[in-house]
Formats: sequence, C-alpha cells, structure tokens
Amino acid sequence: MNDKNSSDFKRIQNRADIVEIVKTYVPLESHGKNYFGVCPFHDDHSPSMSVSPEKQIYKCFVCGATGNIFNFVENFLGVTFLEAVKIVADKVGENFTIKENKEDTRNKKYYDIMNLATLLYQNNLRTPEGAEAREYLHKRGITDEIIKDFSIGLAPRQADMLYKLLSSKNISKKDMDDLGLIAEGENGTYDLFRNRIMFPLKSPTGKVNGYSGRIYNTTSNSKYINTRETVIFKKRENLFNYHLAAPAARQEKFIVICEGQMDAIRIYSVGIKNVVATMGTALAKEQVALLKKLGVKVIVVMDNDSAGEMASISIGQTLTKEGIDLGIVRLTGKKDPDEYIITYGVDAFKDNIKHPMSYPEFMEITLRKNRNLANPTELSAYINDMINMISDSNDDILIEVTINKLVDEFHLDKELLKSRVKNKSVEITVDVAPKIQQNSTEIGDKQAKQSNKFNRAFKTMLYYMMNDTDCMRLFLHYQLNLPKCKYRLVSNNLIYYFELNRSIDFADYLTFSEDYEEVSEVVKEIIRDVHVDEFSTKDMEAVIKIMKTMIDNEKIRELKEEMKNELDVNRKKRLFENIIEIKKGCVENGRN
Ligand code: UTP
Ligand code: MN
Repeated sequence: MNDKNSSDFKRIQNRADIVEIVKTYVPLESHGKNYFGVCPFHDDHSPSMSVSPEKQIYKCFVCGATGNIFNFVENFLGVTFLEAVKIVADKVGENFTIKENKEDTRNKKYYDIMNLATLLYQNNLRTPEGAEAREYLHKRGITDEIIKDFSIGLAPRQADMLYKLLSSKNISKKDMDDLGLIAEGENGTYDLFRNRIMFPLKSPTGKVNGYSGRIYNTTSNSKYINTRETVIFKKRENLFNYHLAAPAARQEKFIVICEGQMDAIRIYSVGIKNVVATMGTALAKEQVALLKKLGVKVIVVMDNDSAGEMASISIGQTLTKEGIDLGIVRLTGKKDPDEYIITYGVDAFKDNIKHPMSYPEFMEITLRKNRNLANPTELSAYINDMINMISDSNDDILIEVTINKLVDEFHLDKELLKSRVKNKSVEITVDVAPKIQQNSTEIGDKQAKQSNKFNRAFKTMLYYMMNDTDCMRLFLHYQLNLPKCKYRLVSNNLIYYFELNRSIDFADYLTFSEDYEEVSEVVKEIIRDVHVDEFSTKDMEAVIKIMKTMIDNEKIRELKEEMKNELDVNRKKRLFENIIEIKKGCVENGRN
C-alpha cells in the first residue's frame, strides 16, 4: 500500500468530523450518543441512518450502507475514493492531490503505446486510404463529431505499418505482443488489425486498453475482431463507453445497457450518453460491480432476437440478485437499437426507454411463450419458473404483487406460494422426493446452522478487534487456530494494521482496509451485520472462547474420523492423545 497516501488519509480524517460533513449533505438530528438522518442510499422515508461521532462512521440499519467519511462522500456524490478524500480535504482546509494510482503508473508504458496506435489509426482514417471507411461510417450515420468522441480510426491495409511505426520509436516487440497488437506469420511480424475500422475500447477511467475492429469493404472475414486478454485489457472489467456513461448516468439516474458497440454509439449520438455495451457477452461480476457502483436504475435493451432474449433473462437475473433496480425493454420490428433508431426515430426509442417492463413482467411474458397453460404439467413448470425467478429478488413489494397475480389467475393457495418463494429449491408439484433425501437436507441444515453460528461469532470477534486495542491484544494472546475463510483474511489484515500502528483506530482502519479489495468487502459486511456499542475485554473473551470451542470440536471431529480409518495402532494412539490434549485445553479454558 501507498504509505504516503495512508498518512494523508489519517491526517485528513483527524481533521474531519463525520457529523459536520454529513450534515452538509443530509440533515441530521442528535439522539443519544449518535446522530440520525434519512438514508440517501436507498428510498428511505424515516431516519434510518445513524452517524457516530465516536466511531466516525455512518451506518444505515435498513439498506446496510456503511463506512467512514470518505466512503460517505464517495457514495453520496458518486465519485472515486480518492476524489472523495480530496473533497473532504478541501472542506477541512487540508492539502491533498490525487496522484495516478499504482496500477496506472505501472502500466503507463502500455497506455502510451495504445495511444500511439490509436493516433495512427485516427490519422489513417483521414487519409485518402480512409475515404471508403469514412463513407461507410457516414452512411451509417456516424458523423465526424462522433468519430472524434469515440476516437474511431482505421487500421492500415499495409500488413506491418503499426509494427514499423512502433519499432521506429524503440518499442519492443514483446511490448507490442503483450498488448495484442501484432502476430507472427510466415513473412515475419505483422499487424493483427489490418484494414478494419477501429473502435478503441477504453477502461472505466477512459484509457484505451484494446480495440474492436470491424470490416467495412469485404464480407469474407469475421465481422469484428476484438483485442484478446492482455496486460491491460481485461474483458471482464470493461464495459464499452463506461467512462463517458458513468457521469451521465449519475445525472440522469439511469443507465442503458445494450449488446453492441454500434448500438451504444447510436444511442449516445441521439443524446442518451448514459449508455454502455456488453459487447455481446454475458455480464461478468466485475462488470456488474461497475453498474452497481453508479447506484442507478439499469435499463436493459438487448437485440431483438432469441440471443437477446436469453441475454435479457440472464442479465435481469444477475441484477436482481445484486439488488440493482432494473427495467427491461424489448424492441420490436428491427434487429437492434441501432436499426430501430434509424427506422423509427429517436422519440420512439426514448419512449421505449421511458416505459420498460419490470423484470417479473418481462419474465411472465417470456416464460409463457410456447407454453400451453391449460396443460397441468406445463402450467406447473411455468409457476415453478416464476417462483424461482422472484425468489432472487429482495424487493418485497415486487414479490407480493407477483404472487398475487399468480394466485388470482390460477386460484392457487397464497401461503403455499409464499413458502415456496422462501425455499425455492423445493418444487411446486407434489412431493415425490424419497424420505432419505429429506434426512440429508436435515443434516445439511444442521451443518448450515453451525457454520452460521461460527460465522456470527467470527464476525463479532473481528468487530471487537477493529474497535478496541485491548480486544485486539486479547485476540493475539489466544492464538486461535482460525480456519481458512474470508473472515481470516480480515483478522490477518487487522494484525498487519496493528503491527504497523500499535493501536486500533476504527475509522482509520476502515480507510486502511480500502487498499485490500477483498478484505474491504468483508469489513463492510461485518460493520453491517454486527451491532455492538460497548467493547469490554470480558465480552471479547467470551466470544473468543466460543470460537475456540467450535474450532476445537471441529478438530476433534476430524481426528476421530482419522482414527476410525487408521489401522496402525501406534498412530491411532497418537491421534487419541491429540484428542485428549485438545479436550484438556477446553477444560483449562473453563469450558466443557
Ligand atoms: P452484432 O452482430 O449484433 O453486431 O454483435 P452489431 O452491434 O449489430 O454491429 P453492426 O451493426 O453489425 O456493425 C453484437 C456485438 O458482439 C460482438 C461485437 O462487440 C458486437 O458489437 N461481436 C459480434 C464480435 O465480437 N464479433 C463478431 O464477429 C460479431
Ligand atoms: Mn447492428
């Protein structure tokens, strides 16, 4: 992590009072030790967000939003973490300048090369060689202004123009290869993209990291060639046009997502700048995170074919599971948004965008298609599909409305449907599962309950550790043999923090953990789930002991299992001694 940054954060945080700063965005009222306000991170009507001057954090009891002052500003204004630090610094009169992040600096060399390549392509489009490509673009309604906005270019016909240009600037073949710009053939090294219209792909911060190249005067080759995974191009982390769409989306409070970059460019060019494209693939978890970060409604406008319908189902499901507000638009009459806008005009398209279907509405239509609901088997399959679909949602009203519709239409028992939504794995048709299966679920349940209990204890223990130096010391004293899991990541991170600082400061630790993405997510989960206000070492000790017992019991269970399978008498004896040893430890700790 960047030590300079970290000490800057600390300095700024020490000067900033979370209550004073949050108050500039949301009215707060004092209530006991804490302050309360209407939560700006969900559709809140009564004050469910508390702000603690003592811990310097905010926390919403309804939607779970939580963090320190930097996180608040980050999420409230929809800016990056570093931008939030800068804003807070300005408010309290501290200096802070945003430097490029580590990764960007490390990859600067690569981005520079991509910029050179992009310039070459852009220039080439303006030469006589580019006349035909320009004509093609103009015919498709892509104006010079849009060509500029999207840095569109043309890869030269000559087989190794880019390779030669980059070589003349002393750029190594290895670097070009790392970026997926060149390939090796019988006649030596050649450019991967030749005679294609080049659409630069840009990272979420707007840096060119790859290309999509389209044919324009031939029909033989594959329509688009895209940059493969490279040192800087990770398909999963990119959405076409995200860097331009994000600020527009925050302003408009929604974002459109379509399949092709041509569609995104068309939609953008008619004034809807808050648009991104998946580029024809399923949504990866990183891409979902990019959308979620915006905190706005996502309008899904896929192509008007069965692949587009499948994509709408899958994206709808993913977004629903993530609790992201969404609407689905299914265009009719033309193949994709691009052709739709050209044929029916901007207003018709905007009208579609303004009146999307909810995901259940869309699914209702889709799941009914090609099904004869007069047939009991098909009806039962339909109802099961509907139940599975709404079970992914945590929108209670949507669930209620959908259930009511099913109840009314098919005269079903409402309670039955409701219980099925809760246990969606259970099929709605009569139970034919053999008894044995039921037993195994019970065992599964028991294990699940136990691991729940363990996770709860683990989270509580970590919460104590991140709030209180003495609790941290106590933890270190016990030297628990923690199992490998995401919570252990946090305890290791906390130990590391403690090693560096020799004491615990809650808000400061939160900032520290921001640098470790995986850890930071779990930390936020813990703050959301654990509600403790007083931190006594006595309570901490109790939690540690509960954890120790659970860990010991698990170890004993494993050893017993091993003993059962062990044939060698001596080794069996040793295993037994191990068990006794652990049990003795339990007794010494006043348990069992
Ligand atoms: P489409 O075939 O729908 O292309 O593929 P499109 O967006 O309508 O493009 P135009 O109008 O023909 O120019 C959707 C997306 O799938 C990817 C591209 O990202 C494209 O935008 N794709 C498609 C490829 O990567 N390779 C291909 O050969 C075709
Ligand atoms: Mn198209």
